Amino acid sequence: MMAEPSSGAAKRLFDRMGRILDVLAREGISLAETMPEGDFQTIAAREGLARVFSAARKTAANPMAETADRVAAVEILGRGLDRQDEDVRLLASLLIPQSPLALQLAAVDAIGRLPREGTTEVLLSGWTKHGPKVHAAVVSVLLWREPWLGALEGDAASRPELSAALDWARRDISLRHPSAEVRLRAEKLRGTPSAKPEVRRALDNFLPVLKIQGDPARGKKMFTEATCANCHKLEDVGRHIGPDLSRLVDRSPRSLLVDTIDVNRVVDHRFIEYTAVTTRGHQVSGMLFDEDEHSVTLADVNGEPHVIPRKNLDDLLSNNRSQMPERLEARLTPQQMADLVAFIASSRNVSDKTP
Ligand code: HEC
Repeated sequence: MMAEPSSGAAKRLFDRMGRILDVLAREGISLAETMPEGDFQTIAAREGLARVFSAARKTAANPMAETADRVAAVEILGRGLDRQDEDVRLLASLLIPQSPLALQLAAVDAIGRLPREGTTEVLLSGWTKHGPKVHAAVVSVLLWREPWLGALEGDAASRPELSAALDWARRDISLRHPSAEVRLRAEKLRGTPSAKPEVRRALDNFLPVLKIQGDPARGKKMFTEATCANCHKLEDVGRHIGPDLSRLVDRSPRSLLVDTIDVNRVVDHRFIEYTAVTTRGHQVSGMLFDEDEHSVTLADVNGEPHVIPRKNLDDLLSNNRSQMPERLEARLTPQQMADLVAFIASSRNVSDKTP
């Protein structure tokens, strides 16, 4: 048995192995090809390789090891002569909010690099537990893979993680995807109205509002009464938890009405609600405001930040839904809604006025 390599030495060993694998990959040569069966030297080389890879598995899985060593180990996993399935499972097991961020990101890249069936599933399976930075990494890996073509064609509806990832990525796909066909389909999917019957009914009910003359002054009062001001700031009322409504590109009454009623049509990933449960059983819900190497920060409904060390996390989960409550319109009469829309459409942000 080889002694456990010490920190630093482990990283150097895995880095060197990684460079060899990269060179082979660039030349289009598989590791197995460099080792003809039955060759005497091959036997020794295989044993050496097996030791490097089993050290890498141990280091990657060891929460006490240095993050830099674990990241270096992750970069070679799945690229050895055998045990690829085991390595993919190990990589997937590192994709949890408790892992240091760098390790999670390295695991996403490592899984994405492996030319194996089923890696899309592996990357998507933990979607609701990932923070925004891991989401971005997963999406950028998946964006360039064939299965997305199929996903865009419609099976996203039956697969919530896929449809969440797609929502997240849609803007990116429609701007950046190399295939014009994929870009076009993504563009069409954007802004598709919600299919939920109760939302459709509410939209139908409130469409006549567009014909009613609204009063901005009454709307301003309504903005507070209908609780909008709890999360949005306009003029001198409310606070910024949700998006700044004065900065909406399209503030036409129709667009405002649809956005207020069909809340989960396009969920901006910045405003998805997360719930963190700590190892001591405390629970915090809110937007995932920030995440770094060793902690996540949630902002609760009052905008109060809560910093939770990753090691204290028992669970972190998003519901893929916007924090903006649904069915707020149910409490409003058409006239009140018209006033509200008139207020939002006419208001100017305080900061716009300052020269
Ligand atoms: C609990 C907080 C909360 C309350 C209360 C709330 N909103 Fe929102 N609102 C949000 C969040 C968060 C978003 C971002 C939604 C998203 O993209 O996921 C949002 C989005 C919106 C948008 C779309 C903005 C955009 O950038 O596309 C409009 C319009 C809007 N809200 C209007 C209202 C109105 C009108 C009310 C009152 C009837 C209201 N909101 C009440 C949190 C809230």
